[in-house]
Amino acid sequence: MELIYAPDNSSLGQMAARWVAREILLCPNLVLGLPTGSTPIGMYHYLTRLTQEGIISFNQTRTFNLDEYVGLTADHPQSYAFFMREHFWSKVDLRKRNMDIPRGAVSNLAAECLRYDDAIQRAGGIGVQILGLGPNGHIGFNEPSHNMEIHTHVVDLSAETIQANTRFFPDSGAVPRQAITMGVGSIMRAQKILLLVSGESKRDILTKTFYGPVSTEVPSSILQLHGDLTVLTDIKLLK
Ligand code: F6R
Repeated sequence: MELIYAPDNSSLGQMAARWVAREILLCPNLVLGLPTGSTPIGMYHYLTRLTQEGIISFNQTRTFNLDEYVGLTADHPQSYAFFMREHFWSKVDLRKRNMDIPRGAVSNLAAECLRYDDAIQRAGGIGVQILGLGPNGHIGFNEPSHNMEIHTHVVDLSAETIQANTRFFPDSGAVPRQAITMGVGSIMRAQKILLLVSGESKRDILTKTFYGPVSTEVPSSILQLHGDLTVLTDIKLLK
């Protein structure tokens, strides 16, 4: 594991964008796994700038998002599809047919999970996976549990995740109770992973992730077993 410190949140976004930009330059037809949430917003901002300045291009890149809320259509302002359009898809030269995200509002969610895994597999698997870290250690929406799901699946969101994500909704009652998420298998099979962690409130879970036991109760701890992991954080760990 390589641990890189960023002096603050804004630098973290810039450093993450440069890290991703290098990967795109080295491999323009990269298959990129993408997160939503507050942490990667700066990265998307700087990646947009690098693209608009003509330094990189996403024109041959494929992207797969980690997750989507069940029940929200892609035009719902709190859906992750909407987030991606607003922060990234509409700003860079990614081709529409090359961007994918689980569809949370389809009637057959089981079929959607199979479609998603199949699409990832047909693309050759994830080359570089970018992750954020949930306050309870979730990656994607793989929540603390007794077991880890390998494949894309529907998950019941934990009370902690619903609480954490209430900030994006009018109230906690409006937060969807379920999501579709890429499984731990697709994430761990990625050739490279970049984990972004920002803010003091994540200190405890970041410490547990890398200095605690590998446990399904802290899903992010599985990342200890990945062979090519970079952690980019603005939290100084003393250990
Ligand atoms: C979002 C996702 C989640 C977030 C995590 C951290 O697509 O997969 O695992 O990365 O909840 O979210 P923020 O960055 O908002 O703290």
